[in-house]
Amino acid sequence: MAATVITIAVEKGGCGKTVTTSNLAYLMGDEGKKVLCLDTDPQGNLTFALTGGNAITSKAFANRSLYDMIDGFRYNTQTRDFIVESEYENVDLIPANDQTPRLSKRLEDLYTDAQRDYDRGDPKYLASDTDVLDYFLRQVKDEYDYILIDTQPSRDSLLLSNAIAAADYVLIPLKCDSFSEDSAFRTYVLCNEMRKSKTSRIKGVGVMLTMVQKSAASQDIRSDCRAKLGATLFNAEIAFGKSVDNSINRCVPVCYSARTQPPAKSYVAAYEELKKRLAELEEK
Ligand SMILES: Nc1ncnc2c1ncn2[C@@H]1O[C@H](COP(=O)(O)OP(=O)(O)O)[C@@H](O)[C@H]1O
Ligand SMILES: [Mg+2]
Repeated sequence: MAATVITIAVEKGGCGKTVTTSNLAYLMGDEGKKVLCLDTDPQGNLTFALTGGNAITSKAFANRSLYDMIDGFRYNTQTRDFIVESEYENVDLIPANDQTPRLSKRLEDLYTDAQRDYDRGDPKYLASDTDVLDYFLRQVKDEYDYILIDTQPSRDSLLLSNAIAAADYVLIPLKCDSFSEDSAFRTYVLCNEMRKSKTSRIKGVGVMLTMVQKSAASQDIRSDCRAKLGATLFNAEIAFGKSVDNSINRCVPVCYSARTQPPAKSYVAAYEELKKRLAELEEK
């Protein structure tokens, strides 16, 4: 069966996108599922997290990144050639490198070029300028159970639109504070707008609270989100804990280094709920 593509997105930075992506990827791989991660954030944090601390300037990723894959569209670049192994069993990665910041602009030009080439007889077809990432993922979907796309903090970028357009499911991490709540709602609206398009493949959107503390503020955000989002809000919540920063400093997912600590336990619960939600969508 083709991989389920899950995009982790919210327009604000620092809300737990990358920590969520790396931990879900690790848990999936640990369970024996084959996972491909895409690092679409120019900061390359996911690449760092999954490769034991390789920076985006690392020589290991020169000419082997998401940018190089997409940039070579006209020359028939193959997705497989850009996949590297992560430090974790069953988890592969298409890394970011120092070219990634140029990707959104590159996508604009690429679509224009692709249309012209297609009119001249090139068999490669892009349905729209948001179809590029999906075009590349289609080549390897049968080889994975899950494809996870980590995104950049942004509301209006062609790269983000590509990541959402390629998704079967969008997971929106909502850090427990009011600024982040607003940002998460805007991303939710964006996903629902994109979902209306005829070519959309999004089957579901979920919002998940992150960095939840035993405080009145976290309780307020929880109640407000439950009232506004209903069942879209995950029951599982990611607990705030120092073990997360410790794990980031050690360049490992917290579920790998501190499985018994509250953040890791909550990621295990979140993964279970995600699987349940995906299974329910399949049944529909
Ligand atoms: N559950 C958590 N508990 C404590 N700190 C966390 C937790 N999740 C994330 N953080 C902190 O928030 C920072 C931002 O998380 P990150 O996943 O990089 O956000 P984003 O990818 O949305 O920018 C991390 O560097 C870490 O310091
Ligand atoms: Mg990030």
